[in-house]
Amino acid sequence: MKKEMAVRAAIEAAQKAYAPYSHFHVGAALVTHDGKIYTGCNIENSSFGATNCAERTAFYKAVSEGEREFSYIVIAGGLNGNIEKECPPCGICRQVMSEFCSPDAFKVILAVSEENYKEFSLEELLPYQFHSGQLL
Ligand code: THU
Repeated sequence: MKKEMAVRAAIEAAQKAYAPYSHFHVGAALVTHDGKIYTGCNIENSSFGATNCAERTAFYKAVSEGEREFSYIVIAGGLNGNIEKECPPCGICRQVMSEFCSPDAFKVILAVSEENYKEFSLEELLPYQFHSGQLL
């Protein structure tokens, strides 16, 4: 699985965004250990609070299909679908990532284009996280 393919999938997924309120279109491509890609887009709601981010859409699709092992996620988005700078994941999405992914092994890729992206570990984006080890 080439990273560039996942970047393209995230950029394409942003075109599916349902964002009539913010007009901010986001796409995500979540890649499993065995190289499968699950895409997601943001899905807004008139109540605002029921809005789901692109990253969580991708995670919930994948987990509901039985996937549990993830290598990285690519995120791309921008106002009116114009992807001009990086789109970092919100705090809730970082927490959802931490439920399923190892903080240092899992990578979060913020893409502007296939040639222009930045890579972070989940640990860098969510240090000192609250995780299942606290409860189990
Ligand atoms: N959004 C995402 O889908 N992912 C992010 O990483 C940041 C924000 C969405 C939520 C909402 O539909 C719109 O972008 C503006 O916040």
